Amino acid sequence: MQNESIKRIYNVQSSVYDFIFKAFFHPRHKMAISELQFEPGHKILDVGVGTGLALPLYPKHCEVVGIDLSSEMLKQAEKKVVKHGLTNVTLMEMDACDLDFEDDTFDYVIATHIISVVPQPFKVIDEMRRVTKLNGKMVIVNHFISSNPLLAKVECFFDPFFRKIGWRADLSYEEFVSSTNLEVYNTTKLSKIDLWQIVHANNNKHLCQQSRVN
Ligand SMILES: C[S@@+](CC[C@H](N)C(=O)[O-])C[C@H]1O[C@@H](n2cnc3c(N)ncnc32)[C@H](O)[C@@H]1O
Repeated sequence: MQNESIKRIYNVQSSVYDFIFKAFFHPRHKMAISELQFEPGHKILDVGVGTGLALPLYPKHCEVVGIDLSSEMLKQAEKKVVKHGLTNVTLMEMDACDLDFEDDTFDYVIATHIISVVPQPFKVIDEMRRVTKLNGKMVIVNHFISSNPLLAKVECFFDPFFRKIGWRADLSYEEFVSSTNLEVYNTTKLSKIDLWQIVHANNNKHLCQQSRVN
């Protein structure tokens, strides 16, 4: 799916997104962010910030930037910024595949429920890695196809429907990690049966640059 279609889908969903998805997605935001050790002055990038459900979870002593393709999702996020007095948050309309930031800008780069939405998930990871500082961390919360063959069949069956509402259900965790060279140091789930994973990775850009040279 191309960016224009994705934008249209999320512009339409923006006003009902929290009502439909908050109960389901927010516990993962909480779990993913609670495991991070933020220090005063840290810079955080939330890639595909959506309606900003995660924004109140970041400490106010950090500088937070949220980017999204959909202007209507960002309007909902702006409401949360005002409601919660989040003076440390800046929101920008931007494509995750082409981040308008210098290399090595952020201490933490976080992407929740977006990797299966974008047409070029590996490109997003490359961009996340580029803008993360060398010792920074990347956090990805995403659905990956089940390792249970029966469940995987069900997911593949419903994949065309999921694509209509803006995401794919057939991304494999193993393929994702190997294709992106992610240096994963921890994965967690809300529960054993949750099909979404919380993936914590070190920024190994020095090794990736090395492997590209070789
Ligand atoms: C399922 S929502 C997740 C929103 C939020 N991260 C959350 O967990 O609630 C996916 C978001 O990714 C955004 N998105 C999709 N493609 C994008 C891209 N190429 N660049 C930036 N944002 C994108 C959509 O507009 C939407 O807000």
